[in-house]
Amino acid sequence: MDDKIRELAERRKKVVEGGGPKRVAAQHEKGKMTARERIESLLDAGSFTELDAFVEHRCVDLGMAEVEAPGEGVVTGYGRVDGRLVYVFAQDFTVIGGSLGAMHAAKICKAMDMAVKVGAPVIGINDSGGARIQEGVDALCGYGDIFFRNVKASGVVPQISVIMGPCAGGAVYSPALTDFVVMTEKTSNMFITGPQVIKAVTGEDVSAEALGGAHVHAATSGVAHFTYPDEAQTIAGIKKLLSFLPANNIEDAPLAATADPVARTDEALEEIIPESPNKPYDVRDAIARIFDDGDYLEVQPIYAQNIVTCFARLGGRSVGIIANQPKSMAGVLDINASDKAAHFIRFCDSFNIPLVTLVDTGGYLPGVGQEHGGVIRHGAKILYAYSEATVPKITVILRKAYGGAYIAMCSRHLGADQVLAWPTAEIAVMGPDGAANIIFKKEIDESSDPAATRKEKIAEYKKNFANPYKAAVRGYVDDVIDPAETRPRLASALSMLLGKRETGPARKHGNIPV
Ligand code: HXC
Repeated sequence: MDDKIRELAERRKKVVEGGGPKRVAAQHEKGKMTARERIESLLDAGSFTELDAFVEHRCVDLGMAEVEAPGEGVVTGYGRVDGRLVYVFAQDFTVIGGSLGAMHAAKICKAMDMAVKVGAPVIGINDSGGARIQEGVDALCGYGDIFFRNVKASGVVPQISVIMGPCAGGAVYSPALTDFVVMTEKTSNMFITGPQVIKAVTGEDVSAEALGGAHVHAATSGVAHFTYPDEAQTIAGIKKLLSFLPANNIEDAPLAATADPVARTDEALEEIIPESPNKPYDVRDAIARIFDDGDYLEVQPIYAQNIVTCFARLGGRSVGIIANQPKSMAGVLDINASDKAAHFIRFCDSFNIPLVTLVDTGGYLPGVGQEHGGVIRHGAKILYAYSEATVPKITVILRKAYGGAYIAMCSRHLGADQVLAWPTAEIAVMGPDGAANIIFKKEIDESSDPAATRKEKIAEYKKNFANPYKAAVRGYVDDVIDPAETRPRLASALSMLLGKRETGPARKHGNIPV
């Protein structure tokens, strides 16, 4: 027996050593942890159970028969984050560059299948040279098997892709199919075709960082939802994200302890909206004042900054917040904001996270670029996502809610369960300036002092139309509230809506405009 135990220990040691000390040192020199170190720092101490440690590659082509690949270049298993079950896989760059062969993919697929079976989130740590070249079509099949599972698991368990190294070629599509992409700055990149191929095909000169680094994907492409300066902060970020999420689509997010009373009012909210209608303010100041302990986690914070999407809590329960951001492009809705909001709304709806919408937007962004870029198609995604969502939906109109944007930002007509408005709300077909120019054109043109008449007519329009009461008279707005009372009113609405059950007509699936 001793021999057998010794053999087991030796085999396990070999797997744990991965690509060996030299490659591990090279990994550390780049500021990167090894796959095992990443898993250990993510999971609660001692909670990791490894699966398939002894799997080996089956490739005999191109000299691979003699190549050893401990763990087949990926560490898989399950463990706990803050006591809650998760499945993980971490590609091991020290073993054949973390490249993906058939058995490497089979390990990932098994972990994903188990996660779906038991209803646990999947966290995939990507650090790989992509499809293992020697394995040819077997490697490609492996990717296909993973993509298929990403889609099957979508809306069943949360899937978080963490990019901590290269993620190139078709390999990027697994992260793209998951719910959240988290990138570490400087050491990670994602692209379909790398700098050399681009140079050869288009003649463009670009570095890997400028092409597909964390900042580019966080600010420009919108591929990354979160970025962090180093791996330790990336892992802390993942833990924070998980704290807001349920384990699967039939559970609720965990109830967090808070000393912040739901009945707390906040007079400072009465001062948030500036006197001048065109003066910007930061809607995140309102979010911090309304929700528990001033704490929130912004998703895609530097992409489409004209809309804020974030997780927060009210009375310890997770909520997803969508808020126009007057500080950025006056909070207009555009192509990117529509995509960003729709993705977030659909995630929250899939995972039973109630939606709170804070409205202050003049409408969709005018312009040839927007029209030709498909603002009709992209803008429709918000309408679709809100309308199909069956989680509790609560809307607070802070200031401007004009035209299509009034409808789009979770109005009663798209199924909001409760719509509240601050007294500063302006709900109308269009803003006072534009409206006065059209409906009072004759009076203004014929006036001896057109500027004064125009000012007067704008004030008249505001008084008569651009206020919350016309909508409240019709019942489209349930109540006009003192801003100071926003937190208790939202808490009351949320607790009233806890039992909300809504089912739609039977269908295979809808067809969101993409
Ligand atoms: C086999 C690979 C590999 C791969 C890296 N290695 N990528 N082996 N298949 N795809 C091996 C290297 O030979 C090397 O082995 C070790 O991993 C480390 O790689 P280095 O090149 O030394 O590391 P580094 O200098 O850090 O460069 C990393 C890299 C580079 C930028 C990722 O390796 C690279 O460009 N790899 C190829 C990327 C790529 O084009 N992949 C295919 C994408 S297409 P030794 O033994 O020397 O340590 C794709 C299709 C998917 O993925 C389709 C899905 C639909």
